[in-house]
Amino acid sequence: MTTEPTSGTASGTDGRWFPQLRHDPFRPPADYEFWREEAPVVEAELHSDQRAWVVLRYDEVRQTLEHPGISVDAERPHYPKVREGVTSRASDTMLRHMDAPMHGKYRRMMTRQFTAKRVSELQPELLRIVTDTIDAVLATGGPVDLHQEISLRIPTAVICALLGVDYSISGDIQRLSAITTSSATPADELKAGTQEMYALLDDEINAQYENPRDGLIGTLIEEFRKGEIEHRQILGQIYMTIVAGHETTANTISMGMLQLIADPELRKRVTADTSLIPGMVEDMIRMHSLVDGTLSRVAKEDMVIGGREIKAGDGLIVTISAPNFDPRRWTNPYELDIDRNDRKHISFGAGPHACLGQNLARAELYLAFEQLLTRIPTLRLADAAEPVIMQNDGFVYGVRSVLIDW
Ligand code: HEM
Repeated sequence: MTTEPTSGTASGTDGRWFPQLRHDPFRPPADYEFWREEAPVVEAELHSDQRAWVVLRYDEVRQTLEHPGISVDAERPHYPKVREGVTSRASDTMLRHMDAPMHGKYRRMMTRQFTAKRVSELQPELLRIVTDTIDAVLATGGPVDLHQEISLRIPTAVICALLGVDYSISGDIQRLSAITTSSATPADELKAGTQEMYALLDDEINAQYENPRDGLIGTLIEEFRKGEIEHRQILGQIYMTIVAGHETTANTISMGMLQLIADPELRKRVTADTSLIPGMVEDMIRMHSLVDGTLSRVAKEDMVIGGREIKAGDGLIVTISAPNFDPRRWTNPYELDIDRNDRKHISFGAGPHACLGQNLARAELYLAFEQLLTRIPTLRLADAAEPVIMQNDGFVYGVRSVLIDW
């Protein structure tokens, strides 16, 4: 059944479908750029038989994400379901789908574990995780899959440290995340994988009611004792944090290494002067625009964005790649410019739901690139028929495997 547009001003979709696939990993889908040059906001049809407004230009994207009349509640009728697997009933268990004032309450509870101070306390542990991961790979010898053996292992172990759980469950987290975040997973496997992940986390949380540890689970258990959060909400927040922080960071490492392998001059420059790494990582994050197509919203009131009259109840999708390459905002957007020194890209979102883990992500990414560049200076793609396999079908854009040798 097709959901008719709720706005009388709709221009019609003109055959526009959302989402579109990328043909170049380091550029937005060509159609998004084409639409963006036609208008700041266009209407498109989704594969779920819905229609939604697609926001494409930088200024309008910020306006939408920061607008107080915008909701992230996935249970609202016209909430755009871009891909299957959008969790319903998440609006009171997961920060990403909570509106104010509930969102502010739970975000404040969790923020303690994500402050700059907390990230700097975690720094020695992050370095240990990165060096141990690289040591293990160097001990095995190549060729190895960079994505599975390094890029995914680092953020999974970091999440265990953040949550305050044993590293022994990181293998299960990595396996279950892969199942639950790929849109290629058949429905029955998705259901089983989600249940297994919830059961695993349930055990970890239950164990900490008796013996709380330092970490996000311990912090939320303190709030539970004060009567501020329910068990099922702790479970939802932890599940969401794993999904939000794992494949994103991993793909930034893998895609970033692909960029460095393709640009020996740049690689030489940052290896010789690792103080350039933060600038490089920031522009990589802009270019990768990894969670493009996942920022769904619903208008709670009538509003005008980019000259379009959006009606209360209309669904919107905020793109990430289109504004991150918007020529109105960026000079030479297709260039990886490590001296750009500009953190105001949209890759971590914006407004009240801007990524809570961005400081942590940056810290682990700086260490991952520093150690990969300096400890494996001869790292290259392995001699294989297909050393790189991209992943275009998940909630996170990126790679499936990158075979390397050194
Ligand atoms: C390069 C890595 C990352 C990228 C590109 C990224 C991207 C994003 C984006 C775009 C949002 C906003 C979603 C929206 O507005 O609908 C978000 C939210 C969030 N991210 Fe990240 N993220 C990254 C790493 C992390 C890490 C490492 C963690 C934690 C371990 C994390 C935890 C969260 C949480 C909890 C939210 C929800 C915030 C809220 O709704 O208030 N992210 N992330």
